[in-house]
Amino acid sequence: MNSKPKFANRVVIITGASSGIGKETALTFAREGAITILSSRSKDKLDLVADEARKFNPNVRVIPADVSSQAQVQALVSAVVEEFGRVDVLINNAGSAATGNIESSNFVKDIRELFEIDYLGKVYCAQAVLPLMRQQGNGFIVNLSSVVGRKAFPGFAAYSTAMHAISAFSDALRQELEGTGIQVATVHPALTQTNFFEGFAQEEIPASFRYMTPLPAAIVANKILKTVLNKKARCIIPWQPRLVILGDSLSANLGDLVVRLLKNRIFMRSIGMYKGSTYQLSNPQKSNVSENPASNRS
Ligand SMILES: NC(=O)c1ccc[n+]([C@@H]2O[C@H](COP(=O)([O-])OP(=O)(O)OC[C@H]3O[C@@H](n4cnc5c(N)ncnc54)[C@H](OP(=O)(O)O)[C@@H]3O)[C@@H](O)[C@H]2O)c1
Repeated sequence: MNSKPKFANRVVIITGASSGIGKETALTFAREGAITILSSRSKDKLDLVADEARKFNPNVRVIPADVSSQAQVQALVSAVVEEFGRVDVLINNAGSAATGNIESSNFVKDIRELFEIDYLGKVYCAQAVLPLMRQQGNGFIVNLSSVVGRKAFPGFAAYSTAMHAISAFSDALRQELEGTGIQVATVHPALTQTNFFEGFAQEEIPASFRYMTPLPAAIVANKILKTVLNKKARCIIPWQPRLVILGDSLSANLGDLVVRLLKNRIFMRSIGMYKGSTYQLSNPQKSNVSENPASNRS
């Protein structure tokens, strides 16, 4: 642990802490002395993360919950309140992916699932901690969206739509809580090397990611920590996706052009988003999709 931990005795809940960005964020807050509450559906995986986190700090708890169940989210927060009496930071991170075109036969099913988990899961968690944070007169909620929560990518519409919904929810919540002492931030990472696309076939990954070198999850976790420390309202990681967002704010056609350029290796190298490596599937599904994937899995 650092000599002066920045979150000593602060109660921090991290959803989706069994893997990827959530796991690294949990380790980062544990290193900073936080009472770290790890949640996701898989207790076994959470226990392994907890073992790692306890090397920095013994104040780690595992409380499994499926964020798509409002009752399980309420039970998670109640258990934390019962033991610690407060929640200082909620990292609203749990989520899953779906790819495929809007004409895909899976699209409606995918979008329903993503709204249940990625979107409503975050709404349930925020609603569960807010009464307590209001009583405390302070608190910090970090909502994980994505770069595609600002500009949608083709072949990634269900996920992009859910991420836009999170951005809007987070933006409105921040303004509704003005003057309460409760801060809200939205974090928009670009492609990050995690288990996010685990089980997908290579050709199911949107073409916009073909020449994108993914961010390490630890870098995203560190930015999340800094977002809370510096009370920022929005964090886009890294800086280059601002080009897409800026282009899109000027004209939809310009935004679309920048998204098309993401498939160009020379462009990606020139803006520093392609550094020679690309997203690695840890457990790829056997390739069984057509050349033009109109119907990919969630
Ligand atoms: N990787 C990227 O490129 C990227 C980019 C931008 C934003 N994001 C966002 O970052 C967040 C974390 O993703 P990641 O990349 O770290 O993916 P990941 O490695 O697949 O981790 C996802 C986490 O969410 C948990 N989870 C999934 N469904 C859940 C549910 N119904 N209830 C509770 N927990 C659930 C998983 O744990 P269990 O399976 O144990 O439940 C896991 O801990 C997501 O919100 C994602 O949208 C990711």
